[in-house]
Amino acid sequence: MTETTEIRKGLAGVVADTSAISKVNPQTNSLLYRGYPVQELAARKSFEEVAYLLWHGELPTPAQLAEQTAAERVHRELPDNIRDAILELPTDCHPMDVCRTAVSILGAHDPQAEDSSPEAELAKALRLWAVLPAVVALDQRRRRGQELVPPREDLGYSANFLWMTFGEEAEPAVVQAFEASMVLYAEHSFNASTFTARVITSTLADLHSAVTGAIGALKGPLHGGANEAVQATFEEIGSADKAEAWLDDALASKKKIMGFGHRVYKNGDSRVPTMRAVLGDLAEHYGKTEVLDLYETLENAMASRKNIKPNLDYPAGPAYHLIGFDTNIFTPLFVASRVTGWTAHVMEQRAANSLIRPVCEYVGPEQREVP
Ligand code: SDX
Repeated sequence: MTETTEIRKGLAGVVADTSAISKVNPQTNSLLYRGYPVQELAARKSFEEVAYLLWHGELPTPAQLAEQTAAERVHRELPDNIRDAILELPTDCHPMDVCRTAVSILGAHDPQAEDSSPEAELAKALRLWAVLPAVVALDQRRRRGQELVPPREDLGYSANFLWMTFGEEAEPAVVQAFEASMVLYAEHSFNASTFTARVITSTLADLHSAVTGAIGALKGPLHGGANEAVQATFEEIGSADKAEAWLDDALASKKKIMGFGHRVYKNGDSRVPTMRAVLGDLAEHYGKTEVLDLYETLENAMASRKNIKPNLDYPAGPAYHLIGFDTNIFTPLFVASRVTGWTAHVMEQRAANSLIRPVCEYVGPEQREVP
């Protein structure tokens, strides 16, 4: 009689390690980045300050922020070889493949690629963070037949990201909304893509390999790809009066409703109220409040039928649509933000490493003779 061991499929509920970077608390429906509530950070701190916090464990002093900002602005420009490589890629491949490829090539050219000292890891993390907006912006523009827009040193991270993407200066309300989304998406403990980055780091592979793998994991619609899928759902439904019928059909065909549910939060995602307020501000700003009717109708219908609540991707998708991003660019926006969390975890894993290698219960044929 084989002793049966408890299989935790999907590692659900398994505590795989400790981490000091963020705390996801489903009981209190809260999320702390290095001890600070994320909704307060989103309201009162820049994404640059939050990036520093995730990497260093403390909010920056004005001098530390100035030093990081200067370094970030120096590395915003897309190197010619990366630009040319992106322009070579088909315009009908998924933009997440462009992100993944760009990070891989950046790693191949990075002089510190194989240097895993804390100083080198931090420098590589900052360079990736600084240049990813240019990768994402160029990818959207090339698919629209538009030329590359070079970065501007006089704009902050978020304003420059929007400048490079749309070729015009975004209004302060839009910059503020976009910046809040970057803060909310930055870090979320051992989610699938972050855990992927830690698994890769645990073999002592390099930071770029870890981020490349994390991008692959984030692409999936059960994870980061959900924000893009939410917008596709909204477009398929069309208007609020069609939402309930659409949902009944979808549930009858056992479909997963994108933007709803979460492996850890079972009573709602702590980030949703803040991102929902951002969506409301954008809907008012652009005079497109009808999206809120559809949003609420589908949310209420999902609650009454399945008692499943939205996750961050549910408000984020329509918010990015209102700003003007192409739908397939939404998850690369998630990459540009989450690269801060991923690299913080790479550094934490490396500082107290143990090879991540679980076991499984074998259920194949018993040993037998080769004929
Ligand atoms: C992110 O982990 C993180 O922190 C991720 C993230 C981060 O910041 O990194 O928060 C970002 O990835 C958010 C999640 C984005 N994904 C989606 O929106 C895709 C749709 N959601 C589902 O696929 C699902 O909710 C998961 C995958 C997110 C979580 O699923 P679990 O924990 O594995 O739970 P489950 O799939 O086993 O569902 C339990 C039950 C099932 O019903 P039964 O089969 O038992 O009858 O709830 C149902 C599921 O069918 N269910 C859903 C549903 N989510 C759960 N049914 C319809 N639609 C859904 N969205």
